[in-house]
Amino acid sequence: MNELTILTKSFDKIKKYLEGNKDTSLPIVKFKTPSELKEVINFEIEKKGVTEQDFLMLIDKYLEYSVKTGNKQFMNQLYSGFNFPAFIGEVFTALANTSMYTYEVAPVATAIETEMIRLMNQYTGYINGDGIFVTGGSNANLIAMFSARNKILPESRFEGYDRNKKLKAFVSEQAHYSFETAANVLGIGSNNVIKIKSDANGILLPSELEKEIKNCIDNGETPFFVAATCATTLLGAYDPIEEMAEICKKYNCWLHADGSFGGSLILSDQHRYLMKGIEQTDSFAWNPHKLMNIPLICSVLLVKKRGTLQHNITDINTDYIFHDIDKIEDLGEKSIQCGRRVDAVKLWFAWKYFGLEGYQKRIDNLIVMATYAEEVVNKNPNLELLVNRQSFAVCFRFIPKHKINLNSFNLELREAMRKNGKSIVNYGYIGKTLAIRLITANGEINKADIDLFFNNLLETASKLENKNKFVAS
Ligand SMILES: Cc1ncc(COP(=O)(O)O)c(C=O)c1O
Repeated sequence: MNELTILTKSFDKIKKYLEGNKDTSLPIVKFKTPSELKEVINFEIEKKGVTEQDFLMLIDKYLEYSVKTGNKQFMNQLYSGFNFPAFIGEVFTALANTSMYTYEVAPVATAIETEMIRLMNQYTGYINGDGIFVTGGSNANLIAMFSARNKILPESRFEGYDRNKKLKAFVSEQAHYSFETAANVLGIGSNNVIKIKSDANGILLPSELEKEIKNCIDNGETPFFVAATCATTLLGAYDPIEEMAEICKKYNCWLHADGSFGGSLILSDQHRYLMKGIEQTDSFAWNPHKLMNIPLICSVLLVKKRGTLQHNITDINTDYIFHDIDKIEDLGEKSIQCGRRVDAVKLWFAWKYFGLEGYQKRIDNLIVMATYAEEVVNKNPNLELLVNRQSFAVCFRFIPKHKINLNSFNLELREAMRKNGKSIVNYGYIGKTLAIRLITANGEINKADIDLFFNNLLETASKLENKNKFVAS
């Protein structure tokens, strides 16, 4: 195989793919079942390697059947879009292929991660803060709960967690499922994550939090961890950090802010107020791979107090890695990973490229777009807004003219959209009501993209209505 030919042809494929991302006539996904996929791609590794031609064809097939998340009509997930400088950063990350454990093997990347953590702490208001790039928001939440457990029960790092201590964590009923996983991993148990009631817009009710904490204390249990969600996964709601911080101080609980989805709002002068009090938290999960459109994975856990992360690590007597010759901090000494990707590099390239102002504009634009999408819903008598929008998520449903089960109809509508591949959007349940959830996460979308989305939705809904009418008669 001629590697140079593959490289040159791969470059052409990247160009073609990116042009395709802008072409709204192309489907976002060519959906195939697993068995259908096996018919078009040979997944097995064979005794002999493939030819150059077959290798190039595999790239084509991979791209052809992958979901085009960079297309502006991809509004399904909390991440989307294509970020050019971050993509370049990702390519060169793989090219230099180094690991973030030591300065010795990753000098430039170590300096970059250190600078990114400094900047992100500055936005957060952690004056003596620290942080680490982790493998996703879920893992940031895990390390936060781990740090909280190790603060209140330091001996559990060596002896294991003593269940007689009855630790209890508190999160919103709207919080991400990763907190239960974290409690499970830490031996605390997912049943010890107490769900706190939220209001009609999905915002945690502080009075309920205090009530539940008191209940636990009365039962001889130990409240130790509280999470405020900064943009909940379904409704995009921001929990009231300031009020929660008061409660946490009173009951000696660690306060974590889960900004895995909406943490990047902190970059916006205009909208940062939704995270008022963030500097009073003990840790903050911030996921640039969502609203900052950095290619997955790019996630950070920030901690308010320097030393917190080192305290989690128990045995670092590994002189085969950490030689300490240059007396320069090795970032691996505060991570639970050993080998670690230099995910800070792509973020740094992107932030350098757009600048502080550029990123602020991108985040502001997301709110402008979400506001516009909400207006479109409110103006259309066939659409119903299901909760008041707080940030980047617009939850609504289509109301057909004739009487029909609304959940079934909207599910069918969403599925029809996914299968025709023109615009892709997700759904979830608010209580028993199925909501179509539109997310404005792509920093480059504009009003025409939102209009196109609703045109596609209304056109698909109208076809379904006619079909259903026909079936009914
Ligand atoms: C509020 C919230 N927390 C945590 C996560 C998990 O983040 P990740 O997918 O990076 O693990 C998500 C993901 O959607 C989320 O919405």
